[in-house]
Amino acid sequence: MFNQRGRSGGITSGPAKEPFVVPAAADISVDRRHLVSLLNRLRTPKGQAAPYPLYAELRSMGDVVPAPWDGFLVTGFDVSGQILRNRSWPVPDSSWRARQEESVRWHTPASMEMSKTLAGLNGPQHARHRRSLGRVFDRGVIDTLRPVVEQAVGELLDMLGERLHEGEADFVALVSEELPVVTVGHWLGIPAADHALVRQFTHDQVYAQELLPTKSQLALSEAASAGLRDYFTAFVRDRRRNLSDDALSGWIRTWDELEPDREAADDALQRLTMFVTIAALETAATLLSAVVWLLDANPEQREWLRAHPEKAGDAVEEVLRYDPAIHVSSRTAPEDTELCGVRIPKDSLVHVMIGAANHDPRRHQDPETFDVRRKTGHLAFGGGPHYCLGAALARLEATTLLRGLLRRFPTLRVSSPPSFFPRVAFRRMAELNVVTA
Ligand code: HEM
Repeated sequence: MFNQRGRSGGITSGPAKEPFVVPAAADISVDRRHLVSLLNRLRTPKGQAAPYPLYAELRSMGDVVPAPWDGFLVTGFDVSGQILRNRSWPVPDSSWRARQEESVRWHTPASMEMSKTLAGLNGPQHARHRRSLGRVFDRGVIDTLRPVVEQAVGELLDMLGERLHEGEADFVALVSEELPVVTVGHWLGIPAADHALVRQFTHDQVYAQELLPTKSQLALSEAASAGLRDYFTAFVRDRRRNLSDDALSGWIRTWDELEPDREAADDALQRLTMFVTIAALETAATLLSAVVWLLDANPEQREWLRAHPEKAGDAVEEVLRYDPAIHVSSRTAPEDTELCGVRIPKDSLVHVMIGAANHDPRRHQDPETFDVRRKTGHLAFGGGPHYCLGAALARLEATTLLRGLLRRFPTLRVSSPPSFFPRVAFRRMAELNVVTA
């Protein structure tokens, strides 16, 4: 047990070589050793490959678990949904970050940059920015993007087929990482020649949004944030000179009406375009890989889907429940309050553990069983005012790919266990080798 106040620094026990960068510890009491060990195990290759037994351990500590820093981990499905949907629980915005005096974690430029765009804005400011994007993926836009996604899936599966002809292929590099950038690149007009650069930036940037980034991860994120800022500043400037009927041109027209100060409008546009790109690339790839991985682990369900391809959408929902791409979404307590019997002081960080909540046995019977036929329901896309704007696009990419795989590669098999990057909040598969039997 521990009880400390005002000490900042890292949790150093356990296998992680580098200390985490965490906010100051709070006046709270938890089984620190157990929790630290669990959080450390979550970051190991073994923990990344199988986080769900660890989440079950975490859930067994309570629906709301005091973290070894000034924060709380929320594991229960119902309470997680209530927090995400509740407008009075703000995301950690720039004023909250400015109040975290001792913490390196919240003051890095990369972290402050994030607080200036959608996921870091609250109230009317958030509503203004979100509304400025319009109905991002309504039925009309999805109908326009469907042939683009179908063509991209067709071409990527052609390439996969060629590689499989020679032997083993890495599904992550060949397909999962490509489809999102091709799709979003088409939608926003990012040239193919820039895809690899932008994708590397988003991979690195996202560490600033991790649950427990290390110092070197924060440094990577700093460099990537600067790269993304330069890239999307030039990107918006160039589009201004060539306005057409694409999404970004629409946002530029909207901001020119909303914001008389051109520099402020361009700042907002650069951040929005950058954030949407990060949000799209750092999630969908994980979903696509998880579809292949989980169906390989459940071959009888894959066979059933081959006979029922119209159920591909249900299978994607179960993948989103079972192994969501984002495992943590954070809010702050609006006032001194109590959650599930745990006292939460005003301003505390509250981390909704989406991966744990989606496996809450009170919400899903037998939650550790992957079952494409279950009536699912999940928090993979969050909830409330920050609910994911790209959910429809992610679903389109995943169902199109799944149908293509079932049709064209009925004997596709995973040939070695996948490897993962050491990320907890934004899950990312590094390699998934496949062969045809
Ligand atoms: C499997 C794919 C995806 C998953 C699992 C996912 C998940 C999420 C989650 C959990 C949130 C935070 C919600 C909350 O805090 O309540 C979010 C926000 C967001 N997502 Fe996604 N996302 C995915 C794909 C995409 C795509 C493809 C796009 C865009 C093309 C996108 C754009 C956004 C944006 C802009 C936000 C911020 C919304 C706001 O703060 O108002 N996402 N997403």
